Amino acid sequence: MERELALEFARITEAAALAAARWMGRGDKEAADEAAVTAMRAVFDTVCIDGTVVIGEGEMDEAPMLYIGEKVGNGTAPSVDIAVDPVEGTNNVAKGLPNSIAVVAAAEKGGLLHAPDMYMDKIAVGPKAKGKINLDAPVKENLKAVADALGKSIEDLTVVILNRPRHDKLIREVREAGARIQLIQDGDVAPAVAAGMAGTGVDILMGIGGAPEGVVAAAALKCLGGEMQGRLWPEDDEDIERAKKLGINDINKLLTMDDLVKSDDVIFAATGITDGDLLKGVRFFAHGGRTHTVVMRSVTGTVRFIDAIHRLDLKPFVFRR
Ligand code: FBP
Repeated sequence: MERELALEFARITEAAALAAARWMGRGDKEAADEAAVTAMRAVFDTVCIDGTVVIGEGEMDEAPMLYIGEKVGNGTAPSVDIAVDPVEGTNNVAKGLPNSIAVVAAAEKGGLLHAPDMYMDKIAVGPKAKGKINLDAPVKENLKAVADALGKSIEDLTVVILNRPRHDKLIREVREAGARIQLIQDGDVAPAVAAGMAGTGVDILMGIGGAPEGVVAAAALKCLGGEMQGRLWPEDDEDIERAKKLGINDINKLLTMDDLVKSDDVIFAATGITDGDLLKGVRFFAHGGRTHTVVMRSVTGTVRFIDAIHRLDLKPFVFRR
């Protein structure tokens, strides 16, 4: 993929974030998502790719736009697989809570795991701790390994975990090991990416969240040289069937970085909708808005933060409410 595409993807996530951010705190997560999807779809049409959505808003009959299998881009080469999450953390936008982002990841064809819409158990760390984690190891062992790799004590680690009853045991074990915890209400992609970057204040993401979100975060970690491991976490036979339909027969397989993101040519872009550890949220002013975006490529490992000011009177697709 040409490096110019990175900027094109930043434009896509900026548009989605601007559109979704108008709905912040209005208690309507569907409307926020719809606005972001519409904006994202509109900008995709202007991008020179022959893209296929492999992680998107759902199956064709469930979502009008950005559904799995939909073609995006203007149809010119390169042929790429696309993962989108126009609003990652819809509840966070609806409630004005932190860490909601608009995200796009792209890889050469076949480069992203076609993750079913179900849960995945995950652990994510940055480059220094790459190769030191093991999803199957006891919690304390992983924390010790990451602390050693980062040159600090377990007591100074920050572990991000979704605040869910299914994590009661995990939370207890992390606390017993002595590490600090940041419990989040929703949105585990931003903290997984933040774990990949020094200075964000996040050292590890642990716990069970969405499988598609796991692949999206793994795309960023591939660019950052970090690591994620995952394992699908089916709730019923339907989940197992859904995974089979996507070619995943061994539901218990430990998914490594290369299983999650096979390609070494990956681009990841995310724009903050609400403020978070990784990105600032959208700020509006008269006829304008300001966005904060991170965009990265695995080929060079370059990570760019883009602080952009937009004239919303010239961008009708992000102005709808
Ligand atoms: P949505 O943006 O689709 O609402 O997902 C938000 C999210 O919090 C993800 O970040 C996370 O992986 C997943 O939902 C957790 O699922 P659940 O809310 O069912 O625990």
